[in-house]
Formats: sequence, structure tokens, C-alpha cells
Amino acid sequence: MPDYDVIILGAGAAGMMAGIEAGRRGRKVLVVDHARDPGEKIRISGGGRCNFTNVNATHTAGRERFLSQNPRFALSALSRYTPEMFIDKVKKRGIKFHEKTLGQLFCDGPATQIVSMLTDELRQAGATIWTGRSVGSIEKISDGFDVMVGDGRVTTTSLVVATGGKSIPKMGATGFAYDVARQFGLKLTDTRPALVPLTFEPGALEKLTPLAGVSTNAVVSRGKTKFEEALLFTHRGLSGPAILQISSYWREGEPITVDLLPGEDALDFFRAARQSAPKQHLQTALAERLPKRLAQLVGDNINQPGMIGDFSDKKLTTAADAVNRWTLKPVGSEGYRTAEVTLGGIDTEGLDAKTLMARTVPGLFFVGEAVDVTGWLGGYNFQWAWASGYAAGQAA
Ligand code: FDA
Repeated sequence: MPDYDVIILGAGAAGMMAGIEAGRRGRKVLVVDHARDPGEKIRISGGGRCNFTNVNATHTAGRERFLSQNPRFALSALSRYTPEMFIDKVKKRGIKFHEKTLGQLFCDGPATQIVSMLTDELRQAGATIWTGRSVGSIEKISDGFDVMVGDGRVTTTSLVVATGGKSIPKMGATGFAYDVARQFGLKLTDTRPALVPLTFEPGALEKLTPLAGVSTNAVVSRGKTKFEEALLFTHRGLSGPAILQISSYWREGEPITVDLLPGEDALDFFRAARQSAPKQHLQTALAERLPKRLAQLVGDNINQPGMIGDFSDKKLTTAADAVNRWTLKPVGSEGYRTAEVTLGGIDTEGLDAKTLMARTVPGLFFVGEAVDVTGWLGGYNFQWAWASGYAAGQAA
């Protein structure tokens, strides 16, 4: 007889959820993590307030808001564990929360409330939690798996791999799930940092860094994909929700386009400014709409000195393009050091969408960020972690 019915590797969002559900079904559960404490990413998430779900993170929005080589894959788990189900949990626990914007639900207080809720539920479900223990080799045995944990070996009927992706190695992120997948013959899709700030070559950066700290609402697009959210200038390049979102779609060598006046035609604005105050400089007019330093940068980019009253329509059109269609070419991203998630991962082709079990290895499950399902910014990734963990917890 194996020591446990279910061993879960990784006490993060998905692993704890899987443990709670399996334990509630009467399974003997062990959750193992090499970090000292469970749920470290939950603790730091959402600026310490945990954006724990998004009311729009439903299966109906799934195909658009969860990126994957197979955009339909996530829909099954998402339809069986909805944002409302997690919200219910949070309400029952008495955790106060609010909607910040775009359906994003944040705790009013510290994110540790979510971690405590999950660890308490895990214990109530009878699960054992081992933290600060490294996981070594995994072997398939006749009735399950034999796993090296710390200095000893433990056996289990089902094994749930919930060790996440590669983002923020400083916090203990590893590519462990991918190694396990490879060991058991599962395919991987290419992985890359996502929801990550974008960087620029030194020449372009020199122009951007004086604006470090400036934030403005913008539409950032790559091809047909666009996001209207805050754009933040930093010492390394561009960040803020609009940039993090587009980073999941952007690829090296491609430009991004920034509309600094969402919903407003800059040409109409400049024409009106030319009429009403012809003696002003273009950047002075623009500073009515944009932070002053940003208006200055746009003015420098256009490089058209003189009073706006002297500008021809052609000149104003060039200026308007620089505002509504500012084209920038990032050279890269800040990488896994600051990326919120890993795009790509374990190829969903090898997994059953309902249970997250490997098709060719009965009893072996992969959940959460390790799988090739990546959500938009704004609570979508936690919703995938809860939903995929729940699905595996029902089956393992
Ligand atoms: P997660 O990374 O949470 O857990 C994996 C666990 O496995 C960790 O506890 C780790 O220590 C452990 N582990 C790894 N390798 C191991 C090994 N070899 N042996 C043993 N244990 C191992 N999402 C969102 O929806 N809303 C938000 O507000 C945020 N905010 C946010 C902020 C920041 C700074 C980051 C980096 C990320 C976010 N995210 C987010 C993303 C979110 O944190 C992420 O999608 C989930 O935590 C993924 O859950 P998992 O359980 O799959 O992995």
C-alpha cells in the first residue's frame, strides 16, 4: 500500500487547492514544498493585496483571455470552478475585498489572509503539509509513484505536480514541473516570460528614462491585440498594466504601438489648439492632456519647433501620429526576474482537460502555471490555478 493516496508537489495556489479538494474527498494527502512557507507568490501578489480572481475569468471569456496553443483546453476546468465559487470561499472566511477595475477583485487587507484561508482549509481537510523539503527523483512503481522528499522516499497512488513556472527564481521558482513532464514523455511548448516589463536599446532608453515614474492611460497594441490601461515609464523601459498585458503577445523584432490619447483624435485636438491659442508650443498644448514630461518627450520626438499657429495641417498630422500612433521597438523584456508568469509550459495535448491527468501516465497530474495556459493580468492566473487545482483534486 502506498504511504499516501495523493502527493502534491508545490504548496502554491494550484497545489493547495488540489490538496483541499482531494482531502475533502477523504483521500490521504501530503503537500510538499521546498520553500519555507506555503503560498509565497500569493503573499506578494497584487502588490500584497492579492488580486485573487477576476469576475470575467469565466469559461465564456476563456478563449480570449487565457493564452495557450489550444485555447479551448482551459474551458472545461474554468466552467466547473468559477470565480463565484472562490468569491464564496473568501466571503465565508470574512475576508473583505473590493473590485479595483476591469473585474479585478483584491483583498482590502493583506494577501496573507488568502494564504491562511487555504492552509487552514488544507489542515481541516486532513492534509499533511511539509515545507522546506526538497523534492528529488520520481519513479513510477506498479501502484503509483515513489518520490524522494528530503532524505527519505514516500509513495503515493496519485501525484499532482503543482510547482508552477519559472517566473521569479529568487522566490523559489524552478522548471521542475517541466523536468517531470519530460521524464514521463509529455511534450512541452516553448516557454517565455510574460506579464513582464519591456526593455529598449540604449538610444531609445536614453529618451525614456528621464520620464521614470510618469504614468498615463494609454492603448498599447501589437497587431490587432490592444489593451487600454496604465502605461508606466521606468529606468529600464516601459511597464504598467498595459505593457505587461501586451508582453504576452509581443515577440522579439516586433514594434508596439502606443496611443497616448485613447478615444481622442489628436489631430482634432491640435487643430482646436491652433485655433484657440496659436502662439503656444505644441508641447504646451499637449500638456493639457498628458503629464508635462511626457508632452515634452512627444514634442522632442516630433522635433517641430515654433508656434502651433504656424503649423500646417500636414505638420499637425505628423504630430498627431506621434500621439495616437507612437511606434516603439522593444528589444526584450526584464525576463523571469520580474515576470509575473511563464507563457507556455506542459503541452495540453498530453493532458485530459477535465481532470488535468496525463493521458499516457495514469495517476500523474499537472496543474497551475506549469501547464500551457496563461491568463491575462488581473486575477486570471489565480483563477486558472484554483480551477485546475480543483479539477485535479476531484480526480486524484
Ligand atoms: P506557484 O508559483 O504559486 O506555486 C508553486 C509552488 O511550488 C511554490 O510554492 C514553490 O516554492 C514550489 N516549488 C517550485 N519548485 C519546486 C521544487 N522543485 N520542489 C518543491 N517545491 C517547488 N496572478 C493573479 O491572478 N493575480 C495577482 O494579483 C498576481 N500577482 C502576481 C504578482 C507577482 C509578483 C507574481 C510573480 C505573480 C503574480 N500572479 C498573480 C501570478 C500568480 O502568482 C501565479 O499565476 C500563480 O501563483 C500560479 O500558481 P501555481 O500554484 O501554479 O504556482
